[in-house]
Amino acid sequence: MFCDSQENHPNIDDTQIERLITSKTKAIVVVHYAGVACEMDNICSIATKHNLFLIEDAAQAIDSFYKGRPLGSFGHFAAFSFHETKNVISGEGGMLVINDLDFVERAEIIREKGTNRSKFF
Ligand SMILES: Cc1ncc(COP(=O)(O)O)c(C=O)c1O
Repeated sequence: MFCDSQENHPNIDDTQIERLITSKTKAIVVVHYAGVACEMDNICSIATKHNLFLIEDAAQAIDSFYKGRPLGSFGHFAAFSFHETKNVISGEGGMLVINDLDFVERAEIIREKGTNRSKFF
């Protein structure tokens, strides 16, 4: 399900999230548009209440904060972009932040194209 944006900003309208959750919902994905933080207090509470994964698209949010806490540190995962239009650039690069240690090994295998190369080394 897609949740609409706020009336005056492209960030998600957090007041509409809860009514869109169904038995099939697995995660809430938020975009911190232009590095402006979504309403993370409410969004984190909803994710916890409904036992959902929280994923932050923090592509534009490097060095951005919500109430003093860095964006990308709230969700189970957060993705940052190092595309040439961003503040930090590395060609095709990006960064996946994993805030739940249970997913680190799986992420390493995916990064290593389906192999256990990291473990091998
Ligand atoms: C909000 C947002 N999400 C995702 C992306 C995709 O990032 P990338 O091109 O590094 O995959 C961008 C880049 O433009 C973006 O601004």
